[in-house]
Amino acid sequence: MKPVSAALRRLEIPGVTVFENGSGDLLRLAIHSPLAEAHIYLHGAHVSHFQPRDAAPVLFMSRQSAFAPDKPIRGGVPVIFPWFGARAGHPESPAHGFARLSEWQVESLTIDGDEIVTAVFQLKSNTRTRELWPHDFTLRYRVAVGRTLRMTLEVENTGTEPFSFENALHTYFTVGDVRETATTGLEGAEYLDKTDGMQRKKQGPEPIRITSETDRVFEGTRKTCVLDDPKQKRRVTVEKSGSQTTVVWNPWVAKSAAMTDFGHDEWPGMLCIETANAGANAITLAPGKSHAMRTVISVG
Ligand code: BG6
Repeated sequence: MKPVSAALRRLEIPGVTVFENGSGDLLRLAIHSPLAEAHIYLHGAHVSHFQPRDAAPVLFMSRQSAFAPDKPIRGGVPVIFPWFGARAGHPESPAHGFARLSEWQVESLTIDGDEIVTAVFQLKSNTRTRELWPHDFTLRYRVAVGRTLRMTLEVENTGTEPFSFENALHTYFTVGDVRETATTGLEGAEYLDKTDGMQRKKQGPEPIRITSETDRVFEGTRKTCVLDDPKQKRRVTVEKSGSQTTVVWNPWVAKSAAMTDFGHDEWPGMLCIETANAGANAITLAPGKSHAMRTVISVG
């Protein structure tokens, strides 16, 4: 078991936040505020749990997730950087980049007058990240836990050359039955269909309903999405800024069976609506410049 350092203990807000050993003995921040509960692993700065008071949990977590320093966590909100999916021309590189596989530092932990708890995590380029991606950067990830979950990922170019990156807050939502859900906000938008050789298609005027494996990368959209979940009698709203891509993903039957860190029967209980900048929406940052992407999750 990894002991909690004195430096982390000093950041704790008594009665509200505590650092503890979570699954796989990985360190996590647990927040129990008057407004909500949340867990955030330092591994990947990964939000694995968010539950406003008097509401059901919002995020899906696979019961088969790995919790290990060299593996991503399956569920919650993986932080994706600096490439989305497989890295073009680099089959040896980890899928979805290295941010979700890295141990992040905790920069600060605060609670404001409205009882919103904000944790700020930081990841700086280092020898290991430079071996995978030869650029200097600082990532700052601000997670604000209140009645809503507000996550802001800031990328700063601390090097001397411009670089391009993709990113995503790969949010897994827990749903009553994905086949009964309807997602609005992407009507008429163009997408690349990853289940059909990356063909470019256009979403019709109707909400998205999940009737088979779905893996759609919507480019050029800044719109808010609303996930209607009649079985749980709730709507989840995903608002965003600094993001031009939205990805909608459900692995359905065959892909679920092929994933070792996902239960074969778990696909009906989840849907990913991901706030991203991917493909044609990749961001190029000049030295000294920063880019911020934000997503705000609310339930009602
Ligand atoms: C989605 C991708 O964002 O993430 C899918 O569009 C992918 O193609 C899914 O299968 C999960 O990726 P991973 O690397 O966590 O298994």
